[in-house]
Amino acid sequence: MTTYITTPIYYVNAQPHLGHAYTTIVADTYARFRRLAGDSVRFQTGTDEHGDKIAEAADKEGVSPKAYVDRISAMFSDTWPTLDIVPDNFIRTTDADHVATVQNILQQVYDKGDIYFDKYTGLYCTGCERFLTEKELVNGKCPDHQTVPDEITEQNYFFRMSKYQQDLIDHIKGNPDFITPERYRNEVLSFLSEPLEDLCISRPTSRLTWGIPLPFDDKFVTYVWFDALINYLTGIGYPDSEQFKSYWDVAEHVIAKDILKPHAIYWPTMLLSMGLPLYQKLHVHGYWNVDETKMSKSIGNVVRPAELVEEYGVDCVRYFTLREMSFGLDSSFSADAIVARKNSDLANDLGNLYSRSTAMLIKYTGGVIPEPVASDDDTVMRDLARDVVTTYTEKMGDFQFHRALAAVWELISLANKYIVTNEPWALAKEPERAGRLHTVLYNLHETLRLLTLLLQPVMPGTCKKMAKGLGIAEDSPLVTSLDAAGWGGLQAKTELTRIDALFPRMDTKKKKQQAPPKEKTKKKQKQKVKKTENMEGLITFDQFQDLELRVAEIVAAEPIKKSDRLLKLSVKAPEERTIVAGIAEYYKPEDVVGLQVLIVANLKPVKLMGIESQGMVLAAKVEEEGGSRLVLSAVSAPVPAGSKVA
Ligand code: MSP
Repeated sequence: MTTYITTPIYYVNAQPHLGHAYTTIVADTYARFRRLAGDSVRFQTGTDEHGDKIAEAADKEGVSPKAYVDRISAMFSDTWPTLDIVPDNFIRTTDADHVATVQNILQQVYDKGDIYFDKYTGLYCTGCERFLTEKELVNGKCPDHQTVPDEITEQNYFFRMSKYQQDLIDHIKGNPDFITPERYRNEVLSFLSEPLEDLCISRPTSRLTWGIPLPFDDKFVTYVWFDALINYLTGIGYPDSEQFKSYWDVAEHVIAKDILKPHAIYWPTMLLSMGLPLYQKLHVHGYWNVDETKMSKSIGNVVRPAELVEEYGVDCVRYFTLREMSFGLDSSFSADAIVARKNSDLANDLGNLYSRSTAMLIKYTGGVIPEPVASDDDTVMRDLARDVVTTYTEKMGDFQFHRALAAVWELISLANKYIVTNEPWALAKEPERAGRLHTVLYNLHETLRLLTLLLQPVMPGTCKKMAKGLGIAEDSPLVTSLDAAGWGGLQAKTELTRIDALFPRMDTKKKKQQAPPKEKTKKKQKQKVKKTENMEGLITFDQFQDLELRVAEIVAAEPIKKSDRLLKLSVKAPEERTIVAGIAEYYKPEDVVGLQVLIVANLKPVKLMGIESQGMVLAAKVEEEGGSRLVLSAVSAPVPAGSKVA
């Protein structure tokens, strides 16, 4: 099998941060996982170097665009090795072969009649580098950049995107895994339910020269998205190379939700026009925030990967990001959260298991793996290991990294309990129970070998150390191939090597002292009031104030399997949260996306059909003949998502 996995190519108007690092760690981990499964893999990342934003950034620094992009692009390519990210190709859109490929494709699409010249007036956002529709604006501003877009009229070239709208809808409907998680697929389908406009794909050289000249009109350069998306083809030598033939059919792109539209709409319609097969899958993840707020230069809370690696170590950063974020949803980074994961999951659970087990082996058998007793029917570790390998393989393949890791940690936790229940130190005192001791020690070390294998894609450096400690060559199939994920690969008589502790614990005291003392919350005082003042069904003003009502915008909705009544809603209020609402009998998922509704925002989360619901949507219950129906509450004019209802 073959795998082709890509990240977005990052703009060089900013230095790499946690968000870029996460996407690239995900792609690297997936590439390593597919290699473990025996695939021949190609993993590509790179930098996007044309366009208004870059030209502006270079201008600000008073250097030429080329000098500027060379410098920042190197910052990206230099960052990846520090995170143990090893792409097979690092592409730059200023590379000569990319420029030639873009021009070649433009000419092809133009000759086919899918590009035409026209006059256009639109609202242009420099931050997004694209024209926005009225519908996309919130209070007249770009919701992502909080700036009022400029009204621009100019003559430009347009790509007939609308021509391929129905083909794209059919493809998405016919291929449920084309865009995942499902909430993003629904978002795209909902967007496609309105007529698609054609895409402006040029910029006049009077306004911008830092771009690829159109091959059929040198008074224009190519719109940066039309240029950038083609990187996925250039990087594998489109159209004639062998690599293109083997990899294009299996292409999988990883992106965050910010660039869903270009990847789910522009790119597939471009491919349809070129007569190429569409990519296989688009994997869309959420945003990393920092301490619950948006990461931004102006707030000064941008998290730099190099600093994280310096503070916590590369494998801790890789593990933390993959374990902490549910792929598809937003997540919040905080120093406390990463320290907690490091101390608990890595130092306590994994690190202790490794050091306790190997220390006992060194003590009781001189560090030589013993032969387990064949007749011993102790299969507890082996049984769970088999299930964990199955779950792990499925979840890693589905980009559910946090679930795959949770499964692996079940195995670690059982192994730690296994030590306690079997008390090898007591067995060692009774020579007649040596056979039992050997089985227990073997089972523990075979579990360590399996952990070394399964954690490879996530923590490659640590796994090399673990393999070395177990006396296994780091490139041995025993720790680098899923074919060896069955029980019993570890050979008796293998000799351990002493290694240092895998994860030293981090001191949390210092941080705690610095934290500001917790304010006595008003809420606590109010709760007291509540108990004493409940008269005749009336509530006090204070009690009402305990309810936090907010306006939430529904950004995605999906049905819940096995429930006719419930819909899973993703809402912005203003942070993103999931609410399970009993409205499925009255609303289709696609009809509620985009609505602003009222919610109770401070309800204790509850699990409904296995999904954590973080709030409640308010709706009017209308009693009618033959039953009742629900009508969602709304505000009379659009307001920013998250506005408080007073
Ligand atoms: N150049 C375009 C992509 C062209 S791909 C053909 C671009 N570049 S970008 O530098 O803005 O990168 C956006 C991507 O960076 C996101 O899709 C995501 O992969 C990553 N992230 C940037 N900020 C992020 C967060 N705060 N959280 C998670 N990922 C984020 O768009």
